[in-house]
Amino acid sequence: MNLKNLIINRVSNLKFTNQTVDLEHIMDLLDVAIYAPNHKMREPWRFVIFQGEGKETFVKRYVNTFEESLKNDQYLTVNKVFSAPVVIAVVMPKTGQIRDDLEDLQANAAMIQNFLLLLTESGLSSFWKTPQYIESVAFRSTLQVGEQEIVVGLLMIGYSEMKIQPKPRKSARSKTTIYT
Ligand SMILES: Cc1cc2nc3c(=O)[nH]c(=O)nc-3n(C[C@H](O)[C@H](O)[C@H](O)COP(=O)(O)O)c2cc1C
Repeated sequence: MNLKNLIINRVSNLKFTNQTVDLEHIMDLLDVAIYAPNHKMREPWRFVIFQGEGKETFVKRYVNTFEESLKNDQYLTVNKVFSAPVVIAVVMPKTGQIRDDLEDLQANAAMIQNFLLLLTESGLSSFWKTPQYIESVAFRSTLQVGEQEIVVGLLMIGYSEMKIQPKPRKSARSKTTIYT
């Protein structure tokens, strides 16, 4: 697929097959994705990758931070994301300066889109999620995220047999003002 078609065919996809994802391949793609623009070369990201037993253990640890009566609901909520064969948490260090942090979030978005396109190119499906619980103390502490870090998002990854149906967009032309 050429770049134009990759961009259009990268769609969010929830329905994954059980096919195992090769983490070496995922690391190779991340090592390309990080060539995203980023101000002052802060390279403002780190990754936590979950698969198989490691993923189950993390979900259990997180759910166990809740009192008994809440555990089932919390399991169902977190499993909406952690049911994917691979989940990647993208974590950004905070600089202490709002302006720099906004730039760093933009750099993360560029890096993530690079990554999603590379996944699409290699036949993998993905879904970029920012559920509210990524900001919670329970989730952040289970993930071992520091005070000075932000969980930018969770990326669900796997193979899928779903038909790719890009959602239509309003044209850029309809949202553009041109002065000549
Ligand atoms: C920063 C960001 C956060 C997102 N968080 C969620 C989310 O929490 N839940 C969700 O259903 N979709 C989430 N999405 C996915 C969007 O809903 C999706 O990209 C949009 O509907 C367009 O569909 P497409 O990805 O198939 O083109 C997020 C997308 C971005 C860029």
